Amino acid sequence: MQFPVKKVLVCALVAFGATVAQAQQIVIKFSHVVAQDTPKGKASEFFAKKAAELTGGKVKVEVYANSALYKDKEEMEALQMGSVQMLAPSLAKFGPLGVKEFEVFDLPFIFDDRDALHKVTNGPVGEKLFKKLEARGITGLAYWDNGFKVFSANKPLKSVADYKGMKYRIQSSKVIEEQIRALGGIPQVMAFGETYQALQTGVVDGTENPPSNFYTQKMHEVQKHLSLTNHGYLGYAVIVNKKFWDGLPADVRDQLNQAMKQATFYANQIAQDDNDQALEGVKKSGKTAIYTPTKEERTALKKALVPVHEKMSSRVGKETIQEVYKATGFDPAKL
Ligand code: LMR
Repeated sequence: MQFPVKKVLVCALVAFGATVAQAQQIVIKFSHVVAQDTPKGKASEFFAKKAAELTGGKVKVEVYANSALYKDKEEMEALQMGSVQMLAPSLAKFGPLGVKEFEVFDLPFIFDDRDALHKVTNGPVGEKLFKKLEARGITGLAYWDNGFKVFSANKPLKSVADYKGMKYRIQSSKVIEEQIRALGGIPQVMAFGETYQALQTGVVDGTENPPSNFYTQKMHEVQKHLSLTNHGYLGYAVIVNKKFWDGLPADVRDQLNQAMKQATFYANQIAQDDNDQALEGVKKSGKTAIYTPTKEERTALKKALVPVHEKMSSRVGKETIQEVYKATGFDPAKL
């Protein structure tokens, strides 16, 4: 059988065009450790969609949720090596990179509410911290909210004495380690993806996280008590491999910046609601008793934990802590 020459030519041209289009597509692997149905999970999907839209399909963002690609420590290494291009680790995970100032976000009770936090993330301190990443081959693109952390365990956590002697899974932050010690507890740094099993098997007794992470990891199945302490903040820095980012065509980078701006707005808009709904979910499960500390109990917790600021000031940096105090109006002397 003979093919008409014209048809063959057209087919070849179409195939060539498709190959060129494919070769030009830029793939961004975006890895994270939480469930899809969390503020970070949803915001990363939102970013992927906007990135495709605004670049007219030139960029494809592949989101890998739930530690499917890498766990906490590995993902930082993978980003620096260029095996993934984008991450959104919690702010508590930058210490091991050598950027200890990020641990200012982990200081207990340093933010009264989200407004206070945003004064830092949207202000000069947030910018200064991002500059510190550059030397590590990382560019900071945005800060995404999650929420305020609550403590959980298999026994009620009411007075400060209740926290004593138990092992707590924590993120890789020296400030959080010190926070647990200030309560007489034993901190255990562990990857997020290993927490459920560690709680289930009794390797650790308790943990801290915003309700959205607690609920979507089903920690309510393995923790009988949760205390609404809201003693510290957990949020994210969206980061990208600097060499990759700088190597993008300028127009594509601009479009991605635009997509990130929209995703950041979205993330920060849904974060509170997601956490409220997660708490409802925990309540409905009937598996975890939720306790709201009294004003006195919360003040006692604050008194026990705020000295961590001074204790960790040489690590985090006095200057950074003072800058945050100045931005938020926090006064450690007033409890
Ligand atoms: C944790 O490890 O507890 C959190 O940082 C997980 C996350 O990314 O929210």
